[in-house]
Amino acid sequence: MISMKQIFKSFGQNDVLLGVDIEIRESEVLALMGENGAGKSTLMKILTGVYKADRGEILENDKEIQYKNTKDAEQNGVAFIQQELNIWPNLTVLENLFLGKEKLKKFGIIDNKSMRKEALALFEKLNLNLELNELAGNLSVGMQQMLEISKALMQDAKVIIMDEPTAALTNSEIDVLFEQINQLKHEGVSFVYISHRMEEIFEIADRITVMRDGSSILTAKTNETTQQQIIKAMIGRDLNNQYPDRNYTKNEILLSVKNLSSKDQGIENVNFDLHKGEILGFSGLMGAGRSEIMRVLFGLDKGQMQVMMNNQPLQIKNPYQAIQQGLAFITENRKDEGLVLQDSIVENTALPALKSFSKAGMLTQSSMNDYTEQMIQRLNIKGRKEDSCIDLSGGNQQKVVLAKWIATAPKVLILDEPTRGIDVGAKREIYHLMNELTERGMSIIMISSELPEVIGMSDRVVVVHEGHISGVLDKTELTEENIMTLATGGNLNEAI
Ligand SMILES: Nc1ncnc2c1ncn2[C@@H]1O[C@H](COP(=O)(O)OP(=O)(O)OP(=O)(O)O)[C@@H](O)[C@H]1O
Ligand SMILES: [Mg+2]
Repeated sequence: MISMKQIFKSFGQNDVLLGVDIEIRESEVLALMGENGAGKSTLMKILTGVYKADRGEILENDKEIQYKNTKDAEQNGVAFIQQELNIWPNLTVLENLFLGKEKLKKFGIIDNKSMRKEALALFEKLNLNLELNELAGNLSVGMQQMLEISKALMQDAKVIIMDEPTAALTNSEIDVLFEQINQLKHEGVSFVYISHRMEEIFEIADRITVMRDGSSILTAKTNETTQQQIIKAMIGRDLNNQYPDRNYTKNEILLSVKNLSSKDQGIENVNFDLHKGEILGFSGLMGAGRSEIMRVLFGLDKGQMQVMMNNQPLQIKNPYQAIQQGLAFITENRKDEGLVLQDSIVENTALPALKSFSKAGMLTQSSMNDYTEQMIQRLNIKGRKEDSCIDLSGGNQQKVVLAKWIATAPKVLILDEPTRGIDVGAKREIYHLMNELTERGMSIIMISSELPEVIGMSDRVVVVHEGHISGVLDKTELTEENIMTLATGGNLNEAI
């Protein structure tokens, strides 16, 4: 239906696309895969008129096309859900849905009633519980993502492009999304689906195109290929055991959290210990309160708690105090809380490290340079240390946030969904890094919604259900079943 042929694109000296070919067929889900920075988002931005290709052609049913911008693409039936969410935080859910396409009654009066009706019907289909008058900025990232998806589904699109649509969705939201995709596919709609989640791709995609370093290097039918083959095409080598072995033996308690509560966040009486050198997983359904617990602990949100580190009481009233006392927090909201986008990679990496430690003489500018170079290489960040972060791909920006917080050499590193949106090769490098850090005595709290990751990397797992801890599992008890039982409010003894 649509084909892109020999697409070339450079940004200044940076040759990003080097002759990419893809074909979007009717009534199919085409997955687009590749490492962070491979050029996936750029290719889709070219299709939808955000950027113009330097060379190459785009054909629709053998006729050359070129959309002027995303709006033009939309009007021609190509909807694009971008990786960076395009929500207007100060507008309501309803206003966001119909922005620029308001329904009008006679005399140009906005027809709120019929817009509300249409929105509610769609939300019901999507099993979404969203208040139409709520400000979009108050929604969780996951809900904002569902709102974007709703926006795209509401147009009568023939092609829907989804750039990492499920990054912040719960499993049940993903199920509903996939149902909708399959249904629309049978009605003749085509999808381009970009994701780093391999299981998802093999569940939803009919065909897969893999890009590497700006070229399309493999296209295969999903049922005629394997995950191994796709990974090899993506990173150019085989990848054995995704989760490296850990050798942790139980150590003394480093951090002890008692009676952590927050009325505003619905968190009640949370107690847990974190041992020296331990990776403590935090599992639970989305919205269970995992991130909220950490936000209170880090002084970002109000609450009550008693915290001890090495048996000494800590006062944490704001993030600054938390950092001073050896905590670091990589939030799930990395775009907003993580980076100064205009600044360079090295400036961003050095920012908190220099602030909190330079006086103590621990870090100098030249050691920051070395450290940044080392991280760029290890995490395979596609950029030079002096490049501005605004031009980095989504996944590469996340790697910079990681590098920045690790540089502060905290005693306790809190990671919220550390590998979301990160490609398989770099994921593995992050796991290695976590192992190294804990071997040097750092303790890590890792919130993750990917069960294999929680099980593969944690020494123990705390399961959160509706704002309180429903159980703590030892390494030997770590199974998907046990975690899910606790996460859904069940009781382990009954399950056996
Ligand atoms: N506006 C821009 N100016 C300069 N360079 C850019 C710009 N947009 C993208 N790039 C560069 O193009 C390359 C490809 O980026 P792109 O966002 O397409 O990657 P991606 O495959 O979508 O990665 P990810 O999986 O991390 O989202 C990156 O190296 C990025 O730094
Ligand atoms: Mg991208």
